[in-house]
Amino acid sequence: MVTGGAGFIGSNFVLDWIAETGGTVLNLDKLTYAGNVGNLKSLQGDSRHIFVQGDIGDGELVRRLLAEHRPRAIVNFAAESHVDRSIHGPADFVQTNVVGTFSLLDETYRYWQGLKPEERERFRFLHVSTDEVYGSLGPEDPAFCETTPYAPNSPYAASKAASDHLVRAYHHTYGLPTVTTNCSNNYGPYQFPEKLIPLMILNALAGKPLPIYGDGLNVRDWLYVRDHCEGIRLALTKGRLGETYNIGGRSERSNIDVVRSVCRILDELRPRTGAGYASLISFVKDRPGHDRRYAINCGKIERELGWLAGKDFDAGLRETVEWYLANPEWVENVRSGNYQRWVELNYTTRESL
Ligand code: NAD
Ligand code: DAU
Repeated sequence: MVTGGAGFIGSNFVLDWIAETGGTVLNLDKLTYAGNVGNLKSLQGDSRHIFVQGDIGDGELVRRLLAEHRPRAIVNFAAESHVDRSIHGPADFVQTNVVGTFSLLDETYRYWQGLKPEERERFRFLHVSTDEVYGSLGPEDPAFCETTPYAPNSPYAASKAASDHLVRAYHHTYGLPTVTTNCSNNYGPYQFPEKLIPLMILNALAGKPLPIYGDGLNVRDWLYVRDHCEGIRLALTKGRLGETYNIGGRSERSNIDVVRSVCRILDELRPRTGAGYASLISFVKDRPGHDRRYAINCGKIERELGWLAGKDFDAGLRETVEWYLANPEWVENVRSGNYQRWVELNYTTRESL
């Protein structure tokens, strides 16, 4: 069972899981503004994908789904995920990321207790979290490792930190077999254009300003989404219980460098008349509490589970720009808001996707 599987990383995970393992996925997603079942269009009519629209915080629904489908693992992607939105409206973040995760854990615990001994042994709850729980690094600080103390700075990061702590507590107190992953910034296909890379690609193509917060020198450690999905699959099958694994791309870049690279790729692939895309760059007021630098030390997952980031950032960024150029229908559905009507336009029942 996957939660939040219609979002950016969740939908990439579902597509990869079915392609790589041939297994069946029960996908529980509330379909907030960030959920887009159009991401899973290629699975239409495929009985290995069962979609249910619902909230991880709806205990009754989760109880019924667990009893009916009897999953052998739960991978929890469901969350409010955008830092800027958490600054303007933190309540939804507390509700889904903290209260929702708590409710999901509690229902999972009851379900797990009722399993046969060999099923209990095999069961896993994998919680997908972020490097933002560790706070901000100075220019010379060593990268975050699994023992770095938590110091979340935004309401988003604080809500994810709280959910990580609840997962930890359900393992230590009740023995629930959990694994947590903390990953750096993802990029790739199907990312909602509120996040830096797709926002810049789509604004540039529309001839709109490219808003860089502050001086543009904040640093993020970029990882191609499908490398993240592979790390999650490994942590799920081989991760040690109660452990956390950091996942990152060893690809630190300043925001301004990332945006200039996007502009260069677009200049080549879709040249515009007059000045190049970089002329659209516009420095704007900084994000409040903006973390300066993130960097992940992913030595533990590399050593213990044999994971390695496969995609080089420059190649991955180019492929990502190419993906947005090659998928104007997806872009238009997102831009027009039609993606939110996708279920009602394409399906008669929500559980038949
Ligand atoms: P996203 O915002 O694209 O997708 C979130 C999905 O969760 C959406 O489909 C949404 O409809 C669903 N959802 C939200 N509230 C829900 C609820 N109450 N019940 C059920 N479904 C709900 O997010 P994403 O970027 O794909 O991130 C997925 C997870 O990975 C999040 O937990 C996030 O914190 C974590 N993460 C993201 C990144 C990143 O760079 N995007 C990096 C590290 C960790
Ligand atoms: O580090 C992992 C986190 O990465 C995830 O946990 C979050 O879910 C995900 O949203 C992402 O958080 P960021 O805040 O780093 O991502 P975002 O794309 O919003 O911003 C990346 C950087 O770019 C950040 O320093 C802010 C800056 N930025 C962002 C936007 C949207 C701009 O300068 N201009 C913009 O318009």
